[in-house]
Amino acid sequence: MAIACRIAAETLEKVSVMASAGVKTRDLDSVAYDFIRGAGAKPAFKGYRGYPATLCVSVNDEVIHGIPSLRSLKNGDLISLDVGVLTDGYYGDSARTVTIGAVTPDAEKLVSVTREALYAGIAAAKVGNRVSDISNAVQTLVEKNGFSVVREFVGHGIGRKLHEDPQIPNYGEPGRGALLKPGMTLAIEPMVNAGRPDVRVLADKWTAVTLDGSLSAHFEHTVAVTENGPRILTYC
Ligand code: MF3
Ligand code: CO
Repeated sequence: MAIACRIAAETLEKVSVMASAGVKTRDLDSVAYDFIRGAGAKPAFKGYRGYPATLCVSVNDEVIHGIPSLRSLKNGDLISLDVGVLTDGYYGDSARTVTIGAVTPDAEKLVSVTREALYAGIAAAKVGNRVSDISNAVQTLVEKNGFSVVREFVGHGIGRKLHEDPQIPNYGEPGRGALLKPGMTLAIEPMVNAGRPDVRVLADKWTAVTLDGSLSAHFEHTVAVTENGPRILTYC
């Protein structure tokens, strides 16, 4: 898993650096595809339930699962990039949101709060805690900053499958759900809206957007629960 996760992290780093005004979201996808194949791994999303691409690229009010297209990035855009990698039977999954050129202060704040929410969730991924301690840590940080947590999509266990138990909502009372044990591997992934929490899915059956048109951000790491605390696997 550490290998799959490192390749996922390197892919994200590569496409993040490349994301700038004038670049088509499909160009990011083909670079990601070539990089993953070149590393001897497979893109985990392509073909998953019919998903057509290596990356999810979600622009501005798109929350997650944006399909790469001929659309060009422009200054002021907020881009969420999500990638999954499969190697030797194990999966890695990671996402981050990047800004193109100068964005509004509110957009900058949304990005940093969502990143902080991910790290608050990761800090709660320790032996003896329960799944919803992660959920509660994420929700508390997000709402303290005046933003809202998406309810319809959740983090997940990950390992020999992309999505395993348990589901990891980004909201909820602490102290509920499965006990966290050494060796568990989790994809923790807050999705945070600047406005209302509600989302809808576009006619393409994939792209989730905010109902009120507000901006949305997404960060995700694959993390192992260990006796020595959480270990971020999607790291490079
Ligand atoms: N990172 C997302 C997840 O964990 C994206 C997977 S959906 C896919 O659910 F269809 F694009 F693969
Ligand atoms: Co995921």
